[in-house]
Amino acid sequence: MEPTMTNNQKEQDLSQYPYLDKGLEGIVAFSSRKSFIDGAKGELIYAGYNIEVLAENATFEEVCFLLWNERLPNKAELDDLQAKMTAERDIPETVYAYINSTDKKAEPMSVLRTATSMLADSDPDATENSAEANLRKAIRLTAKMPTIIAAFDRVRKGDEIIRPSKKGSTAFNFLYMLNGEEPGPKAERVMDLLLVTHAEHGMNASTFATRAIASTLADIHSAISGAIGSLKGPLHGGANTAVMNMLKGLDKDTDIVAFIKGKLERKEKIMGFGHRVYKTFDPRATLLRVMAKDLAKEVEMEYLYEWSETILKVMKDEKNIDPNVDFFSATVYYSMGIMPDQYTCIFAMARISGWTAHYIEQMENNRLIRPRQLYLGDKNLPWKKVEDR
Ligand code: SDX
Repeated sequence: MEPTMTNNQKEQDLSQYPYLDKGLEGIVAFSSRKSFIDGAKGELIYAGYNIEVLAENATFEEVCFLLWNERLPNKAELDDLQAKMTAERDIPETVYAYINSTDKKAEPMSVLRTATSMLADSDPDATENSAEANLRKAIRLTAKMPTIIAAFDRVRKGDEIIRPSKKGSTAFNFLYMLNGEEPGPKAERVMDLLLVTHAEHGMNASTFATRAIASTLADIHSAISGAIGSLKGPLHGGANTAVMNMLKGLDKDTDIVAFIKGKLERKEKIMGFGHRVYKTFDPRATLLRVMAKDLAKEVEMEYLYEWSETILKVMKDEKNIDPNVDFFSATVYYSMGIMPDQYTCIFAMARISGWTAHYIEQMENNRLIRPRQLYLGDKNLPWKKVEDR
């Protein structure tokens, strides 16, 4: 790809930098056994299993085991993982104290980033970097993030924190701690499906951040803190919140076609659409579209789904761009009564499984990640005293 050159660059010897790929587009930086994406076909595979097969059959705990071990668990292994997750769901009192004392107006993703980083302080394996220790920390992080997210949501609403239950799945516990009542089987299944569809996705920006930090042999908590920061951005995991904020700005009198066309004319990005890899329907969007239609109807908010379908058609007609995972997930979360600024946190409590799987894989065959840059500045300038500048 020819880089865009400024004048002073042209004089530079570019033979040392034959090309410059903004955003590392198309660069294959790693090999991995965790997932495969065919962007042209709209295919997503987690360690051998197509996302449609997993969505239909797997629990989030089975997907966690699959990503960490590159095979599905047998019954004893699954029961063992479930027991370990149950035992690790509670968080240290110091973290509860932080959640209770921090600013109630803080962004949930900021609180999640800080609280997750704090978990390192009391993790018994904090300074251990063996594969076994990292798997133990992966389980702890996956078990504890939902507790952090739910606890802050309760505190900022003025409600008592609900401690994790000694029973149930990650999906069950999250909804129980969030709402203060045990979810029904359908709500648990929907949450489980959201976790499964958001668990892993190759070399996305936050997983790349995880690997870049892991490559210096920094601890897993440092890598995950960086990953949470990366996911927070609206071009990545923050898009689902932005989608809901866009939908909430519409009403039954809005000319949605004109609204979207206007944004496109102003060169504004429509959140929840487009993807660096998928050049067709994101297979997760296909699954979430069905869920959004069903749930919106159930809570008598069909208008959210109808508006979404109108936006989808305009984007296809005007830009030939399809929705990504974040578009319909917004309607699903909203139909479940979850606050829009919590959506990215739910993305994070699913993707922690993929991030930790990649961290462990990076350690198996590590090499420091250190790309080059094309220098655009001047060289060999003479020094000027401050009084002469
Ligand atoms: C996630 O990478 C992953 O795997 C991420 C993820 C995962 O599971 O980890 O899938 C999760 O992050 C999904 C993406 C969520 N982000 C959004 O929904 C934000 C809106 N999307 C865009 O910002 C954009 O599509 C990106 C960032 C997702 C991808 O951008 P690229 O690959 O850098 O493409 P681009 O911005 O260069 O766009 C190419 C063209 C441009 O048109 P031209 O200027 O060439 O005419 O497509 C247009 C863009 O303007 N375009 C859009 C658009 N996305 C691309 N135009 C309007 N709205 C959009 N959303």
